[in-house]
This record gives sequence, structure tokens and C-alpha cells, in this order.
Amino acid sequence: MLAADVVKTQGLKGKDLLKLADFTTENIEALILLADDMKKNKENYSDALKGQLLGMIFEKHSTRTRVSFEAAMIQLGGHGMFLSSNDMQLGRGETIEDTGKVLSGYLDGIMIRTHSHSRIEALAEAADIPVINGLTDLYHPCQALADLLTVYETKGGFKGLKMVYVGDGNNVAHSLMVGSVMMGMDFTLTAPAGYEASSEMAALAQEISEQTGAKLTFTEDPLEAVKEADFIYTDVWTSMGQEEESEKRLQAFAPYQVNEEMLALANPGCKFMHCLPAHRGEEVSAEVMDGEASVVFQQAENRLHAQKAVLYSVMNK
Ligand code: CP
Ligand code: NVA
Repeated sequence: MLAADVVKTQGLKGKDLLKLADFTTENIEALILLADDMKKNKENYSDALKGQLLGMIFEKHSTRTRVSFEAAMIQLGGHGMFLSSNDMQLGRGETIEDTGKVLSGYLDGIMIRTHSHSRIEALAEAADIPVINGLTDLYHPCQALADLLTVYETKGGFKGLKMVYVGDGNNVAHSLMVGSVMMGMDFTLTAPAGYEASSEMAALAQEISEQTGAKLTFTEDPLEAVKEADFIYTDVWTSMGQEEESEKRLQAFAPYQVNEEMLALANPGCKFMHCLPAHRGEEVSAEVMDGEASVVFQQAENRLHAQKAVLYSVMNK
């Protein structure tokens, strides 16, 4: 770890992380290098956020985000507080703005998992402390940082690699797409008609890819898409909040299951990625999910290390 890389992340102090494009490519590179160092040298950071408090508001379910953020704060010498919206006045109609102003008087940072992206923007505007996105309907930036750390660990870099996302053009796909092209990695998204990435997000990724030289491709043909892939990534076909569409989605996405036949079309050594939770037999076969190519549990662990790098960079006083 070069001291210079740590220094570069220091420009992030006090900043919110609502989406990856809020940060520069250099910031993200530095966060990945810092996360890598934190993973290897955990003991060096045990007092990094001594006495600091992170409020963790959840308006949706979570296993990884909840536990990894709380563990991250404890490992950095601080404390994470789980705040379920069901138990807060937020769940009885207190505004997100008032909640943000009140929490700013008690805490040093807020992580929130919520529905609309405009809701986290309103919180960040009202709060005087850093706000971190733990998933909205539009983005999942902390997941993408853990994914990029996993790519870095697996292949040693980004340029010249091909990431293929197969399935729903959702929050995970949006952050992965933007993060991949920011790092100069080629990115292909294959989805059925009607389930593509949002056009606004595709335009943003296109603009970034022109600056970084990454190749960006959209196609409805999953078998064509995965040719020469170094990573195949998928996520659930029905995200939280879309449960009433699940039958329709099962049918639309059926040709998009990541299975051994699909994996065989990719580059030798291609890795399988998934943000989890997964549904074996739907978006991924059990053989691929639990097979040799799968790095899904490495990704899950990397949520902890990537988020420690973010917390250290935005909260460290
Ligand atoms: N990948 C992810 O965000 O998992 P959780 O929903 O369990 O937090
Ligand atoms: N796209 C999924 C991700 C869960 C981590 C959802 O929003 O439910």
C-alpha cells in the first residue's frame, strides 16, 4: 500500500456516497487499494474511527449490508447502530429530512437502505454528516465497490477484462456498469426487452466509457453476450419491492439463467459473481453457484473490507 493512495482517499472526508459517479476514478482506485490493505492488515486500523458512531437505517431487509457495516464500525474502533424504520418515527411518517437533521446531532455518519433514490438525496441534503447508500431502487454502490475489489483480487487489474451482467437491469446492474467502465473494464449487459438498464444510466455509462476507453455493449442475446467473458454476474430477477411481478418476471428471464452451458461459452477461467441473496434454479443453477468458478462468498466478505475503506475515508476526522 502506497501512502499516496491513502492520501488520495482523504479528499473524500465529509462526503456522501450516494452513487459511484459522485467519486472520481482515482478515488475509487484508492478505495480499492485501501480496502485491499485493510483486508491484509486489519490490526493497523483498529482505532481508525475510535468513538465514532454510524446510524444504519433499514427500510428494506438485509443480511450482508447490515452485518458488514456493523462489523466494519466495530473493527475500526467505532460503533454501528441498527435503526429499523419499523421502530423509528420515520415509519410513522416523520420526514426523512427531519430525521436527518436530528441524527446529525447524535452521530458521525448515516448509512441507509431505502426505496427511491430521491429519498436518500433528500436525507443527504438535510443531514450535516456523511450519508452512505446501502441500496436504493436505482443504485447499490457499496456492492459495486466490493465487486471491483473482488475483480482486482482475482485478476490483478481491470483494463482488458470483460464483465458481463446477465439479467435484470436493476440497482446492482447500474452500479456495476458505472463502476466497471470507470475502471476501464469492458462491460456488456444482456437483458430481455423491457428489463434493460435505465436509459439515463446507460447514457452516463456511455459517456464515462468514452473517457476511459472501456467498451460498453447492450444486447438481448445472452449467449452472444457471454462470449469471451472474464466475469459473468447476475442478480435476482425480482428485487425487493417488485414481489407482485415475480410470476411475469420468471417467464421473461427464463432464457437468462446462468448455468454450465452458458459458462462454457465464456473465456477459460471465467468467474461467476452474484451480490446475493441468490435463488438457485432461477437466475443461477446450483452447479454454477456452488461450482469452482463461483467467487460469490469472496464478494460477500469483500463488502466488509470495501465499506471499511469508505467509512474510513468519509468519516475519519
Ligand atoms: N448484497 C446485499 O446487499 O445483501 P443484503 O441484502 O443481505 O444486504
Ligand atoms: N436487486 C436486489 C439486490 C439485493 C441485494 C434488490 O434490490 O432486492
